[in-house]
Amino acid sequence: MEIFAHRGSSGTHPENTLPAFREAAALPVHGVELDVHLSKDGELVVIHDEKVNRTTNGKGYVKDMTLAELKQLDAGSWKAGEWAGAAIPTLAEVFRVFQNSPHIVNVELKTDIFPYPGAVEQVAKLAAEQGMENRLVISSFNHLDVQAAIAQHNMPGAILASNILVDMAAYADTVGTKRLHLSLPFALRHGAELIRKGCEVYVYTVNRLDYAEQLRQIGAAGIFTDYPEKMLEELS
Ligand code: G3P
Ligand code: MG
Repeated sequence: MEIFAHRGSSGTHPENTLPAFREAAALPVHGVELDVHLSKDGELVVIHDEKVNRTTNGKGYVKDMTLAELKQLDAGSWKAGEWAGAAIPTLAEVFRVFQNSPHIVNVELKTDIFPYPGAVEQVAKLAAEQGMENRLVISSFNHLDVQAAIAQHNMPGAILASNILVDMAAYADTVGTKRLHLSLPFALRHGAELIRKGCEVYVYTVNRLDYAEQLRQIGAAGIFTDYPEKMLEELS
């Protein structure tokens, strides 16, 4: 079962920052997950929430701030004093961390609340420029963008879902993928059946060993965890 560092090694480092990604890049995990938004001036930036409030010393929406303004913010102190000064990284900066590693980079496009037109194209272009196109997985709760990533840019795409609304296996066929990134409660309820139907099931966010073992038993393809180092040790 593959292990992905969720938002980098985010249990021990400030999520979605270069320290968290460098830590993940040094581990023998399969990959890393990160979240992408667009700044006011159209730069791909790596942060989870639509607003900077929770994880920085600033206030407001990412979409209303330029990259220069976002770069002024401290994205480390909220986690612990030792990370003071860690910045919100661009996607280009994060790709560079993984340039010489074997890790798969799962770019989660946060286009389900604000659509960020052009984000899919920009990720595809950047990945090609940095030679990352063969180590990329695009996921989103915006399934039209997943479809676009697959059909228009030939990138592997994954459907993100936290609840069941339809026959997910049949629905995934219409999006053009077998890969589902499911919430833990959803996966515990429906994962086994979806795996039997041929889906590749990845599960977020799995920080407990008993859940990880349960998922491994049903044949889950992978998990996203905030504690990749601990999970590596415990699962081996
Ligand atoms: O991509 C898996 C997981 O990160 C999706 O939820 O809210 O942590 O981005 P969230
Ligand atoms: Mg995410």
